Amino acid sequence: MYAGKEFYWGREPNDFARKALEFLPDARVEGQLRAIDLGAGEGRDAVLFASRGVETLALDIAPNALEKARRLAREKGVRLETNRGDVNEVRFSRPFDLVYSIGAIQYIEPQKRAARFEHFKEGTNPGGIHALFAFVDDPRLPPAPDWGPGEHIYHPGELPGYYAGWGLLHFQSLVFDDDSAGIPHKHAAEEYVFEKPVQLG
Ligand SMILES: C[S@@+](CC[C@H](N)C(=O)[O-])C[C@H]1O[C@@H](n2cnc3c(N)ncnc32)[C@H](O)[C@@H]1O
Repeated sequence: MYAGKEFYWGREPNDFARKALEFLPDARVEGQLRAIDLGAGEGRDAVLFASRGVETLALDIAPNALEKARRLAREKGVRLETNRGDVNEVRFSRPFDLVYSIGAIQYIEPQKRAARFEHFKEGTNPGGIHALFAFVDDPRLPPAPDWGPGEHIYHPGELPGYYAGWGLLHFQSLVFDDDSAGIPHKHAAEEYVFEKPVQLG
């Protein structure tokens, strides 16, 4: 998918990345805002965050995707950190203000989800946000032809179950057209932006 010279997903950020920025706290009391893009692919969204002055880490399992992300960052003149990693295993070594993911949290194995989201939440600064896009099952739609064996669809409304006590800043349910496998098809998805309370309790 990423072997070609061209950018498979394009160079322009997703609308959801722009939306996430609207909800990002203006500044931290100390230091710079930090973001991690889980399953960042070729970095189109991570580079947007970096271009807004957010210290950004692009994480993906595919090294050739990250090579392209670094290339895009160079082209745009921004600093981007990249790390090869698996959403099932990654440990946050420092806290983030934005945990972002589009099209990749379905790679988290269902039995690991609760623990994984717990880890991502612990590794988030108070007032920080999680902007997450999840593919969800929809009985009206046939299974998508590009759905792989390592991908695990979410149930509608499942994600908020991992975010008890956090604020819900944004929710949108979507059905959209896709032809990423060369066959036109539809996906159902949900977008959420959750906010970590400044004081828990
Ligand atoms: C649909 S693409 C989305 C890429 C990017 N977020 C975007 O919107 O351009 C999904 C990405 O998840 C990555 N991926 C697949 N399995 C992964 C895993 N277990 N851990 C981390 N990334 C993974 C793929 O390499 C791919 O880049």
